[in-house]
Amino acid sequence: MIPGLQDLAVRTLGECRIESPLAALLDGRPSTEHYVHEDDRVLFDDTAAMVAARGVPLNDLPGFEPGGPRRQIFFQPSKTRVGIVTCGGLCPGLNDVIRGLVLELTHHYGVRKIYGFRNGYQGFISKYGREVVELDPKAVSGINEYGGTILGSSRGEQDAEEIVDCLEHMSINVLFVIGGDGSMKGALRIADAVQERGLKIAVVGVPKTIDNDIPYIDQSFGFQTAFAKATESIRAASVEARAVPNGVGLVHVMGRHSGFIACYAALANNDADYVLIPEVPFALDGEDGFLATLRRRVERRGRAVVVAAEGAGQEFLTEGASGTDASGNKRLRDIGQFLRHRIADHFAEHSLEMNMKYIDPSYAIRSVPANPYDSVHCIRLAHAAVHAAMAGRTAMVVGRWRGRFVHVPISLAISKRNQVDPYGDLWMSVLEATGQPRTFG
Ligand code: F6P
Repeated sequence: MIPGLQDLAVRTLGECRIESPLAALLDGRPSTEHYVHEDDRVLFDDTAAMVAARGVPLNDLPGFEPGGPRRQIFFQPSKTRVGIVTCGGLCPGLNDVIRGLVLELTHHYGVRKIYGFRNGYQGFISKYGREVVELDPKAVSGINEYGGTILGSSRGEQDAEEIVDCLEHMSINVLFVIGGDGSMKGALRIADAVQERGLKIAVVGVPKTIDNDIPYIDQSFGFQTAFAKATESIRAASVEARAVPNGVGLVHVMGRHSGFIACYAALANNDADYVLIPEVPFALDGEDGFLATLRRRVERRGRAVVVAAEGAGQEFLTEGASGTDASGNKRLRDIGQFLRHRIADHFAEHSLEMNMKYIDPSYAIRSVPANPYDSVHCIRLAHAAVHAAMAGRTAMVVGRWRGRFVHVPISLAISKRNQVDPYGDLWMSVLEATGQPRTFG
């Protein structure tokens, strides 16, 4: 589905009648290539062909509402009470986002009551007995130096009605949800329940995914840190593979349904010979299958490096855990260990020496603090989220579309999964850098 005008419309709680404390900063700013005026739109389409295919007048072209401070806001800052929650798996930069939200709310808007809910959506549910923590600049001082999240996290949804009961009981006006697609589905349910009760509570998301699998937000925060960390494992595998006769370095990285980490990490040091991702099926056996292709390369060049995303080749795996995790994600089987054994067996069947070094950086890539690029992205997303919420926007996430900060309705952000396009330019770069065939088998 190609989004249209209506899909990009952002829900608001009401008219903005209060002068923003940031209004003076905005005086006389026109739209330029560096700034989008709040009344302007960021076009969805960015090629002449895409625009032409719509066949509609300029005003009907779909566009995102731009992010950034508004001259008039919805909430009276001194009376506004804010909640923050982090949900799902860890991601570099969670603490940067929390700190960015707290500092922007406090220093620029003058919000005085900010609460952190602990361990994801469990933090709102009385039976878990999670404490609520007060957040102020002192409480978040230096937290960006550390990985993880000071609020803790958890997977899984909780009853939206009970969450709204808690928000109502605590007189929360704004809730920031930092989480992945499952958490954003939960955030939308909360925003809907708020609306049904006729309450004025803004629910604004900061999308979090190291797999970079949320659509319409360009690159997610923490992704760059994660793939940079994975790059270290590929470099190690390459060094090891070079040091032994017929060396094979096999690196297994995260990436449930989207192979972005594998692709970017492989491109970063250009040491990988094969990249296997969920989006591109491959044959294992046969003369043109992956195993024979790998063996011939090792025979020719004396070594090879393989990077496999965890979601790749799942169709080959029938044993091991199945079902779904608490977030509703399909439990994956271990393609890394599977390939490790199949490669070893294949070389043995051909009576060929092979020395494999298997590396799985696993959680080490997502538990680290954000790198400076991601820290910048986090703080800017946090600012955009605060501006949106204070202006009464709700049921939306902040993201960046073609380089501009924008407001993306949650319904759109959860409408599909961002995946590596086998016909796109990223996969083309991987094929060019690795020299691997377009298909195996
Ligand atoms: O969804 C992000 C992710 O990092 C996946 O790549 C990975 O499969 C999953 O989280 C593992 O997280 P956990 O073990 O915490 O469920």
